[in-house]
Amino acid sequence: MTESGTAAGPAPVTEPGAVIETRGLTKRYRGGQLAVDGLDLGVPAGSVFGFLGPNGSGKTTTIRMLMGLIDPTSGTARILGHPMPGAARTVLPQVGALIEGPAPYGFLSGRDNLLRYDSADPTADPRTRRARVGQALDRVGLAAAAGKKARAYSLGMKQRLGLAAALLQPRRLLVLDEPTNGLDPQGMREIRTLVRELAADGTTVFLSSHLLDEIEQVCTHAAVMARGRLITQGPVAELAAGARGRLAVTTPDPGDAARILGGLGVTGIEVDGDRVSAEAPPGDVELADLSAALVHAGVRLRSFGVQRASLEDAFVALTGEGFDVAG
Ligand SMILES: Nc1ncnc2c1ncn2[C@@H]1O[C@H](COP(=O)(O)OP(=O)(O)OP(=O)(O)O)[C@@H](O)[C@H]1O
Ligand SMILES: [Mg+2]
Repeated sequence: MTESGTAAGPAPVTEPGAVIETRGLTKRYRGGQLAVDGLDLGVPAGSVFGFLGPNGSGKTTTIRMLMGLIDPTSGTARILGHPMPGAARTVLPQVGALIEGPAPYGFLSGRDNLLRYDSADPTADPRTRRARVGQALDRVGLAAAAGKKARAYSLGMKQRLGLAAALLQPRRLLVLDEPTNGLDPQGMREIRTLVRELAADGTTVFLSSHLLDEIEQVCTHAAVMARGRLITQGPVAELAAGARGRLAVTTPDPGDAARILGGLGVTGIEVDGDRVSAEAPPGDVELADLSAALVHAGVRLRSFGVQRASLEDAFVALTGEGFDVAG
């Protein structure tokens, strides 16, 4: 793990070429809720950056501040090197955004929504408008449903339409708040592929999610939020490597396996069907001795090994909490 942040308190990030950079960014809502607390975020150019956190951890609030939709209580944010919200006019044309709950005009078709949206952009050439809209619809898999009124769209279709709007122009940065929200597994795969394509074209993609494995599958970097605070940030591979993996045993005798492992001092044992998992033992415990002890006690093993740590393991290790809704 990089030293850019720890549970004890993230150090400020100085990342040359950071596309998004915040210092002490803080939002306290009028009701008193401290939604974002002293956030120091650094998003490197060219990354697919996952902004990860359970429900209520402050992701959307952060994104609204980044995009100049709400003012921070304190702290600063720079996007593409410019201060926000001060430089919104310069910055926002280079940024495509999909923010929580896209609300298209229900009485217009998906295509007409995009045509209308595009015509509100003074830099968009009207002569190429239909082609641009057609391409964006294609890219998000909405071509077949383009003529349908948006009020008849499912949540997943609205989400795709919002994404299409963000893709009408080539962008240096895409900010996507839970882009796969409401999509089925196939739709989620399509969005992941699209995000990878966009990144390959050189667009920096900043996306929020409360789904850990989604972030692991598509992101090069991630920041983890909990209760409005940054827990850690860095390359995904390094974040996961910071946590110990889990011991995983598959056996027709899960009860016996759990008992024997417990007797050997293994902790964090969980049984789920024929699978027994536990905290990986410390380095001085030989795995072969554990499997030998199981076999010796008559436990039949289908598989035995240590699984690579996931981001979820890292999150639990850093916060001491499960990945649940913040208060
Ligand atoms: N307009 C608002 N007024 C008061 N409190 C708010 C407002 N919007 C959000 N909050 C509170 O701020 C905290 C962070 O909310 P936020 O929407 O930023 O979380 P999130 O990480 O985007 O969650 P989710 O994964 O559910 O989208 C929550 O406790 C929420 O209740
Ligand atoms: Mg949100």
